[in-house]
Amino acid sequence: MSQPDTAPFREPAQGRPEDDEDPPPLHVASRLHAFNRYELKYLVPVDLAAELRDELGERMDRDLNSPAGGYGVWSLYYDSPELRFYWEKIEGLKFRRKLRIRHYGEPDGVSDASPVCVEIKQRVNRVTQKRRITLPYGTARQLCDGRELVEHSPKERAFIHEVLDLVVRLNLRPTAITGYQREALVGRGSDTGLRVTFDRRIRGDALDVVETLGDPHQLAQVIANLLANACVHTPPEARVEVRVGTVRTGPDTGGTDRPGRSSATGALPPDIPACVVEIADDGPGLPADTARQVFERFYRGPATGASGREPGSGLGLSIASTIAEAHRGRLELDTRPGAGAIFRLLLPRSVGAGPATRP
Ligand SMILES: Nc1ncnc2c1ncn2[C@@H]1O[C@H](COP(=O)(O)OP(=O)(O)O)[C@@H](O)[C@H]1O
Ligand SMILES: [Mg+2]
Repeated sequence: MSQPDTAPFREPAQGRPEDDEDPPPLHVASRLHAFNRYELKYLVPVDLAAELRDELGERMDRDLNSPAGGYGVWSLYYDSPELRFYWEKIEGLKFRRKLRIRHYGEPDGVSDASPVCVEIKQRVNRVTQKRRITLPYGTARQLCDGRELVEHSPKERAFIHEVLDLVVRLNLRPTAITGYQREALVGRGSDTGLRVTFDRRIRGDALDVVETLGDPHQLAQVIANLLANACVHTPPEARVEVRVGTVRTGPDTGGTDRPGRSSATGALPPDIPACVVEIADDGPGLPADTARQVFERFYRGPATGASGREPGSGLGLSIASTIAEAHRGRLELDTRPGAGAIFRLLLPRSVGAGPATRP
């Protein structure tokens, strides 16, 4: 274990400084840290992110706590059995809260003594407020999992009780872990207070729970078809990845149109919640004109394997697309030559589907 005694990375505080004589409304204490932020997030391609970082690097300073290459951020998220916090985020609720335990640095070597932050992140309209205390990991788990009142200073009392109230009242349990590598830049001069972070190598250990209404046999047929295609129409060494999740439709996530994307059916409305299954391969990919044709009945592309034409009827994708449409969803293909193929099935999250439940 080579963890320092205090959390090595502190994010800048805003608002009133600590003052014992005149306590600010949030009861800021030595271990308790609170700050408000207006947060915007963008998904950008890796090469563009590198360009942006270099450009911003000329006008902004590297955050003192952010070494070259960035630092690891690992979060353990707590949620109710009905995944209330998760759905509040997906549904874009204006007022929402979540509880997480956060560790800065690499995940290996974390012991009960390693410092972590217990954090309540709250969003009110577009302003994000974070309140956190730093505790040894073991104590943080005692508080959040064991629901025990752990030792605290008088100033931490309100925060500790709020955490306990949340975990008990909503029956919160550790539900998902996410990790990424973050590089942080801070503004100078008139940009003081501005902070830009680049998060990459985003990882998670929990499978997404996705629930949708539909005909299970037909939907299974779509997925089986896409999997078979990814195996049959790519060279044997190609990798195939299946991803499942919930997104809001848009150019980055899917469902709406953009260059390099084709479909037999029209775009879904933008920014609606949808369940997604993606079957992605790193095979040869397809040129734009062929990508449009694959959804036509009886269309079959040229053979890709060494042993001549792959088996098939040319009907698979046309049927799959019809099934997606009958579910008020869409089947689409993101591809370009040399960049593999991502077939994406999107199903709008139906009103009647209700919150996802765990088995
Ligand atoms: N993952 C993929 N990578 C490259 N080409 C693909 C992929 N999936 C489908 N195709 C192309 O789309 C065509 C149509 O697919 P499909 O409708 O399922 O018919 P079939 O598999 O019977 O040929 C295939 O013949 C192939 O050329
Ligand atoms: Mg097929």
